[in-house]
Amino acid sequence: MGKLQSIPELIDLSGKHGIVTGGLKGIGQAITRRLVECGAKVLIADSDPSIDDCSDTELMAFQYCDVTNAADLASAITSAANDQGIDFIVNNAGIFPTTGPIEKVTDEFVSRMLEVNVRAQYSASREASKYLREGGSIVNVASIAALRGGANISAYSTSKAAVIGLTQSFAQELGPKGIRVNAIAPGIIDTPGVQDQLAPLKAGGLDIENAIASNPLRLAGQPDYIARAAIFLVSDLSSFITGHTLVVDGGSTA
Ligand SMILES: NC(=O)c1ccc[n+]([C@@H]2O[C@H](COP(=O)([O-])OP(=O)(O)OC[C@H]3O[C@@H](n4cnc5c(N)ncnc54)[C@H](O)[C@@H]3O)[C@@H](O)[C@H]2O)c1
Repeated sequence: MGKLQSIPELIDLSGKHGIVTGGLKGIGQAITRRLVECGAKVLIADSDPSIDDCSDTELMAFQYCDVTNAADLASAITSAANDQGIDFIVNNAGIFPTTGPIEKVTDEFVSRMLEVNVRAQYSASREASKYLREGGSIVNVASIAALRGGANISAYSTSKAAVIGLTQSFAQELGPKGIRVNAIAPGIIDTPGVQDQLAPLKAGGLDIENAIASNPLRLAGQPDYIARAAIFLVSDLSSFITGHTLVVDGGSTA
């Protein structure tokens, strides 16, 4: 075998424009970095108000956007499109507060989880579809919780299972326009959000690093593993793949 091509040689996204929601931290940040490395121009749409500029290259820009807010979403999408259209949106922004025992879960809690994790992904995909050019790609971030559920995460797993449903339906409807729609189901990944969630358990003696590496490959889940899958799904390497949920979990659900 000859010399292996580098990722930017294999996946050339120069001239492509798009959006990563929740791209300031964790998985979204890693996805943004890989997309930019491949030459794509990325608008980070995130609701963290503490950062008003995260761009370390002209290929990366930040716009405040709460994905649950229609005006914020429309503004982010039209900014990224800049009268030319967009080529991808990665619907990554999500929340995962621990649900707790079923009998303690309130309707308000379930509604908020569905609002951020499902309704906002639906709205963002619908609005983006108006601007996506032929050959465009929507990537929705689901979770392995969508596939196997779990005790004490019922509202979260419910929301993520719905992401798979919307991915399949959007794929069927947008396919004839040359737009592909896929999801990624990450296993446990070491991000600020996960560290926040696990902090109380750590105080109780949980070995977080061990928990994050509790998969058959014994690899600690890093955001870049998800980013590599995302650039594959955005790029032409996956041009015959749509409606698919790609599990990236070190074999946890095998
Ligand atoms: N980390 C994991 O183990 C894991 C596993 C499976 C799925 N996921 C999913 O991956 C995605 C990213 O998770 P993460 O661990 O990187 O999270 P994180 O909490 O570390 O980062 C989330 C980012 O999304 C932004 N965000 C949150 N709500 C938003 C909103 N309403 N509008 C815009 N931006 C918003 C935050 O400001 C932050 O920058 C989520 O959808 C999550 O459910 C994570």
